[in-house]
Amino acid sequence: MWSCLGLTSLLIAQSTQSPIDKPVEPLRFSKDGTFQISILEDLHFGENAWDSWGPEQDVNTVTVINRVLDKESPNLVVLNGDLITGENAFLENSTVYLDQMVGPLVDRGLTWASTYGNHDSSFNLSRSDLLARERRFANSRTEAMLSDNQAGVTNYYLPVYGSGAHHRERNNTPELLLWFFDSRGGVYYQEQDASGNEIPQPNWVDVSVVEWFQATNADLVQKHGKHIPSLVFVHIPINAALAVQTQHEVDSHKEPGINDDYPLAQQGQNWCASGEYGGSCSYAGQDEPLMKALAQTHGLMGVFSGHDHGDTWCYKWDKAISGIKPVNEKGINLCFGQHTGYGGYGTWIRGSRQVQVTESKLKDGEVDTWIRLESGDVVGAVSLNSTYGEHVYPATPNTHSSCPTCAYTSG
Ligand SMILES: *[C@@H]1O[C@H](CO)[C@@H](O)[C@H](O)[C@H]1NC(C)=O
Ligand SMILES: *[C@@H]1O[C@H](CO)[C@@H](O)[C@H](O)[C@H]1NC(C)=O
Ligand SMILES: *[C@@H]1O[C@H](CO)[C@@H](O)[C@H](O)[C@H]1NC(C)=O
Repeated sequence: MWSCLGLTSLLIAQSTQSPIDKPVEPLRFSKDGTFQISILEDLHFGENAWDSWGPEQDVNTVTVINRVLDKESPNLVVLNGDLITGENAFLENSTVYLDQMVGPLVDRGLTWASTYGNHDSSFNLSRSDLLARERRFANSRTEAMLSDNQAGVTNYYLPVYGSGAHHRERNNTPELLLWFFDSRGGVYYQEQDASGNEIPQPNWVDVSVVEWFQATNADLVQKHGKHIPSLVFVHIPINAALAVQTQHEVDSHKEPGINDDYPLAQQGQNWCASGEYGGSCSYAGQDEPLMKALAQTHGLMGVFSGHDHGDTWCYKWDKAISGIKPVNEKGINLCFGQHTGYGGYGTWIRGSRQVQVTESKLKDGEVDTWIRLESGDVVGAVSLNSTYGEHVYPATPNTHSSCPTCAYTSG
């Protein structure tokens, strides 16, 4: 009886995008004209629930989030995919981990927006159930604006309004748009083929999402009579990130960051042109529709991804890749975050990329960014301005935790 009622209300809430449990206030720039985003990436909660190691990692991850938020005051937190390690999930409680990871945000009255990653879909973990869990919190701004479940779940945008009094009207033109795309991946929830094998889900942004993005953006351009500056969040990086890494060079001083995942894993990895999933297939261009759409978006300043825990740089994509070149002369900054979770692979020091947009810099398409580490240190502070890629910055130290699974301790 309870589960029937729960399911019914959940379906209603999702199909009508009921605003009842949504934050009342739209996002706005602060009075000082800034809007800051803290990206929590690859949190990987819920590993090895059957031993003490797994739950300890979750406690460590909550500590990282608290340490970052003790130093930073974001206007929005983005959970940029792989919130939970779905392969380790139990059917009866796979989404409960959400409560633990958002605890530090709820405590501080912060709101957040998520993209889901490849580990957020598994036999025992459903993306739409994860969204339903998020919707229990008024602080969650995560949505599913496409009803087609094949397209994944976290496809939506959030407008950010200006700080001035004249922006108070709801129907005013946003200063900034935040787009969230679902790069899918993992395996389908509770599905098996005739031989009992789990069924892989494609790991790129579906073409239906690309079409929705282009149509929705065109409507916004028409409605407001201008191209609104924007940022994109998507868990798995586009192929352009691999291309700049392998065909150009990520310079430790001009594009500071760790560059250990080389070559990096991008959308479409391990999927064959034939549509089959197999370990050794070379990249078949599945995300080219997305790359073309991004390249054609006036005002798009940056694309922020995770997935590759060992890459933390930003690189300006301003040259043609597979014949695709951004219309914007200033290019599109392709950025990784910093692995935030103690779950998931890698021992690189944990942290969180900060993105600061300033109203007065929007006309120049300029964004400031830095990484706040769990140690409290800041690394990789750069200005993603029109000449990013030419200036020399301090290189980011390639710091690791002192043993594979132990938490950071100061000193
Ligand atoms: C989820 O269920 C498993 C198996 O019963 C259990 O070990 C684990 O502690 C549970 N996790 C949470 C967050 O309740
Ligand atoms: C899914 O969850 C069930 C119930 O907790 C558990 O018995 C099973 O091992 C899990 N399956 C997978 C593939 O993780
Ligand atoms: C871009 O930022 C760098 C570093 O802050 C600065 O030196 C440079 O003058 C800026 N370029 C422009 C065009 O604003």
